[in-house]
Amino acid sequence: MPSHTLQLRDLTKTFEAEQGAVTAVDSVSFDIVDDEFFTMLGPSGCGKTTTLRMIAGLESVTSGTIAFDGQDFTKFSTFQRNIGMVFQSYALFPHMTVFENTAYGLRIRQMGDDEIKVRVSRILELLGLSALAHRNPPELSGGQQQRVSIARALVYDPGMLLLDEPLANLDAKLRVQMREEIRRIQKELGIMSIYVTHDQEEAMSVSDRVAVFNHGKLIQVGAPHEVYASPNSLFVADFIGRANFFPARTALRNGQGARVALGRGSELEMPLSRPLPADEGALLDAGFDAMIVVRPEHLGLAPAGTPGIPCSVRRILFLGNYTRYMVACADARREVFVDMARRVPGIAEGDQASLIVHHQDAILFSGAGR
Ligand SMILES: Nc1ncnc2c1ncn2[C@@H]1O[C@H](COP(=O)(O)OP(=O)(O)OP(=O)(O)O)[C@@H](O)[C@H]1O
Ligand SMILES: [Mg+2]
Repeated sequence: MPSHTLQLRDLTKTFEAEQGAVTAVDSVSFDIVDDEFFTMLGPSGCGKTTTLRMIAGLESVTSGTIAFDGQDFTKFSTFQRNIGMVFQSYALFPHMTVFENTAYGLRIRQMGDDEIKVRVSRILELLGLSALAHRNPPELSGGQQQRVSIARALVYDPGMLLLDEPLANLDAKLRVQMREEIRRIQKELGIMSIYVTHDQEEAMSVSDRVAVFNHGKLIQVGAPHEVYASPNSLFVADFIGRANFFPARTALRNGQGARVALGRGSELEMPLSRPLPADEGALLDAGFDAMIVVRPEHLGLAPAGTPGIPCSVRRILFLGNYTRYMVACADARREVFVDMARRVPGIAEGDQASLIVHHQDAILFSGAGR
């Protein structure tokens, strides 16, 4: 039995705007347990911040429920919810030292000086800030300021940590370093955490589970590798990692798969890698539009004339542990990326070639998609 559970059910937020009502969050449901690192991921405006603010009590709920350990969270004030929050803007008090910034949440909880000292020292130590305790925020780097805002959010032992794009203001290298550190501290303290980002690589690398949002709706939730390997929609396939899209038409369905025809006559035998809903399955029988999605590492390239999909090689990039081929293919929706562990002998930029689809790793969707 998990000791802590956050449960959202049909959570909805509608804003009244001049142009009419905007449904920022549309019937979102998920559960988070214990010290899970849960990330809400999605394009700008998809409702991540609004969902987080409703959990924190900074935004009212239009309909649906939020429960923490079975209790209706919406009955409690932000303060009573005992949540630690970290934002993109560090929101530190510039005229207070790092120590006093960190102690702030304890002072408003009227804790005694001795205990404040113990707690602040411990959390500053955990974040590697002890030596900076007497500096003021303007004398700190961006990364150090963000550490202080994390220390401040954690010092009063919140039941949950909410982070809204906390690394967006940092440079790329520091972002990678800080995200690892946030995960380390989160696991060390065993604190349930909800992280918001629109950076899919960041989400994939730190999260136990990711929830992919689009237009206020939760589209898919799962462990990073599950969402990557088994996207439930073309949107998720496109948003998480890189995907190549081949519009197709189903020709024939047989037991475990379907034969599909690409635009210029190539035919592929596709396994059905996911169970299809009945209505979608029926479409596959009858020669309907479909889309084949293949990750770059599940494509191969062979010299022209080899059975495969005809294409021409535009660019070959050496990327250390793999080689990326960017190829033009009339059967694909856009430029195709092929990532191969080794360079293919005899294929150079400008050459015609054959694309090989590793069928067992390709995913077939019915419908033509966007
Ligand atoms: N106070 C508000 N009044 C009206 N509309 C709002 C308000 N706050 C947010 N919205 C709208 O709700 C939608 C979701 O906004 P939200 O800030 O939750 O998105 P987000 O996923 O956090 O995006 P970003 O990645 O850009 O931060 C957007 O269409 C936004 O314009
Ligand atoms: Mg936001």
